[in-house]
Parts: sequence; C-alpha cells; structure tokens
Amino acid sequence: MTATIIDGKTIAAELRGKVAFEVAQLKREHGVTPGLAVVLVGQNAASEVYVRSKSKAVVEAGMTPSDHKLPETVSEAELLALIDKLNKNKAVSGILVQLPLPPQIDPQKVIAAIDPAKDVDGFHPVNVGRLSLGLPALVPCTPSGCIMLAKMVWPSLAGLDALVIGRSNIVGKPVAQLLLAENATVTVAHSKTKDLPALARRADLLIAAIGKAELVRGDWVKPGAIVIDVGINRVAGDGGKSRIVGDVAFDEAVKVAGAITPVPGGVGPMTIACLMLNTLRAACAQNG
Ligand code: GUN
Repeated sequence: MTATIIDGKTIAAELRGKVAFEVAQLKREHGVTPGLAVVLVGQNAASEVYVRSKSKAVVEAGMTPSDHKLPETVSEAELLALIDKLNKNKAVSGILVQLPLPPQIDPQKVIAAIDPAKDVDGFHPVNVGRLSLGLPALVPCTPSGCIMLAKMVWPSLAGLDALVIGRSNIVGKPVAQLLLAENATVTVAHSKTKDLPALARRADLLIAAIGKAELVRGDWVKPGAIVIDVGINRVAGDGGKSRIVGDVAFDEAVKVAGAITPVPGGVGPMTIACLMLNTLRAACAQNG
C-alpha cells in the first residue's frame, strides 16, 4: 500500500482563489483593498526567493504589495522607524519582516514593534499569547497550512496522537498549539528527546519541522499515519546539481504512511496561501 500524496500545490491554489474572490468582494462592497508590506534586510538568497513569491501572490490575490529592501548594514533604529511608518499607514493591512535578520538587529524587538493587528506572521507576543489562550488571533502561516493539509485527509484530528518534531517559534510551538486546539494529544520532540524513532512510531500524525534532511526514516512511521513534512533542505544531487528534500525520507515513508506531503509541493505553497488569508483577515478586522 502506498500513501495518499497530499497535493499542497493544488490545495494552496484553491485557497488563494478563495482569498482573491473575497478580496474582490471587499473592494466592491466596502472600497477596501488589503495591502501587504514585506520587509527584506540584506541579500539572503533563500529569503529573496520567498519574498519574490510572496509579492507575486499578493498581486494575484488583487491586493497591494509594498516591498521594502534594506541594506544588510541597516541599523535596528532605522528598521524600527520603517515599522512605525508602516504601522501608521492605513493602506498597509499586514506587515511581514522576513527572517533571519542580520546580527546587529534583535528580531524579538522588531516583531514586538509591529502592530499586533497587522502581524500577519502571527509572531507578535500578543498573537502568540492569544493563540495559546485559545482566543482569536493572527496565526503563523506554516503551522496553519500544516493543519489544513492534515484535515484534508482526516477532517477531525480529535484524539489523534500527534508528534511534532522541532520546537521553533515559527513552526514547532505554534503547530503544537493548533493541534491542542484541535483536541489532538500532542508531543513536542527536539534535539534532546530520547529514542525519537520509538516516539515517532506511536504517532497517528507526524509533523516534521526540524530542518534536517531526511531525518525521519520509513521505519519511524506508524503504518497508516499522516505525515506532514515542513522541511526544505538543499542537498547535493546527481551530476553536481543540488535538489530540495524534506525532513522525511519520502521514498521510504510513502510506502508506510496513510497520507504524506511531498517536498516540494506540500507545505511550502500553503504558507504563502495562508499569508494571503491572514492579510485579508487583517484588512477586514481593521475596517470593521
Ligand atoms: N523565515 C522563514 N520562515 C518565515 C516566516 O514564516 N515568516 C518570516 N517573516 N520569515 C520567515
């Protein structure tokens, strides 16, 4: 038996289509066009690729992009001044500061400076706190995408044994909160966890967000489990070319799992679709 492949690309395209439809309605009925400001500091190649695809998605959704490229050497004060300007700008519904930031800038200070109502990344302490309290919040995009993909194949996650591998603020911790809100029984594993393979084999739902190429092997997967792979790792491929792999050894896991996301084409496209959804929601909330 081989697993159902969860087609994140198609599911994300459908979500983006729905967002575009609602953006058009918001414009028509309320004269409001959502705007997303994306701030990129320095020249990290991966960040530049992400930022380009985010801006393209904003335009396709009928929203207004505003891209802000700052030099690697920008001071924290200059970045905070830009955020203050964007906070006050009524045409800007959402603000995203691409991470990582250069070492002279404290990312927590920057995140805390963003108006929580415009924090479409869901990283501000107010939104993090609201999520953990089970209150309405802007929720981080990659974790939202993971939950949506899992629910495509298993609509109720209630009672499932879920294992999250990785405890980052961007994915591991918020996805664990979302799973709790779905009434799953949640374990969060990390680099100090003992006997990870044994823990993984108990999971009905396994979310791998650790950033280690193909760490999760086929024999770590419980037969029939749902496997959501958040990893994006560049490794050496054939003929000197590089290729992208996830945190899960896909070719092994696909033979054991009930459903699995591919890399690329799984969680990645959902992150951008959820960012569009958050920007729309932020615009709606700011305009009553
Ligand atoms: N860098 C890697 N992932 C993310 C993300 O989801 N948001 C931001 N702002 N930066 C990132």
